[in-house]
Amino acid sequence: MVSGPAVTRRSFLRYSLGGAVGTGLGGFALGSLGFLYPRPGDELTGPHALGAAADLVSELVATRIPIRVPAGGVSLVLWDPTREAQAATYGRDHAVLGDVGLMALYTQRCVHLGCAVPWCQTSQWWECPCHGSRYNRLGEWVRGPAPRGLDRYASSIDDAGTLIVDFGDLRTGPARTARSLEQPQEGPNCTDA
Ligand code: FES
Repeated sequence: MVSGPAVTRRSFLRYSLGGAVGTGLGGFALGSLGFLYPRPGDELTGPHALGAAADLVSELVATRIPIRVPAGGVSLVLWDPTREAQAATYGRDHAVLGDVGLMALYTQRCVHLGCAVPWCQTSQWWECPCHGSRYNRLGEWVRGPAPRGLDRYASSIDDAGTLIVDFGDLRTGPARTARSLEQPQEGPNCTDA
C-alpha cells in the first residue's frame, strides 16, 4: 500500500480556495488581454461594402440565421424600423431598406470580458459561453453579467443598394434598460453557462 503525506482539512480548503481564486483571476486576465490585442475578426477598418442589401435581407428572412462576416467580427441581423422603439434606438445609425433594417452586431466580443458570442438557433438568442450573458436577436441584453447590449457598427445603404458597414464607427451597445425588442426564448439554450 502506498502512503503519502496526509492532507489535512485545513490544507485541502486552502488549496481549493487558491485554485478557485487562481481560476477566476486567470479568466479575468484572459478576458482583459482580449481587449488589448487584435485577433481574427478585427481585420476590417473603415467603410466596407458587404453586398446587395436586398439579397442580405432575403437570406436573413429565409434562414433566420444571422450572416457572419468573420473578417469584421460582425454578424448581420434584421431590425424593424416600423416599430417605434427600434426606430428611436437604431434609426439614425443603422441601415434601412424600405421597411426593413440591417444591423452589424459586433458579436466577436462580448461586452462583459471579451469572449466571442455565438448565435443559438434554437433559442434565437446570442449566448456567451464564458459567463452566461444572453442577448436577444438585436444584441440587446437579456440576462447575465454583461453591463449592456452588444456593440455594433454604424451602417448605411448606398445609392446602388449596397450595405456599407463602417468598421471605424463602433457604437456602444444599448443600456440594459433600453430594450426595444421583447423576444422570449424560443427553444433550448445552446450553452449551459
Ligand atoms: S465574456 Fe463574460 S458573459 Fe461574455
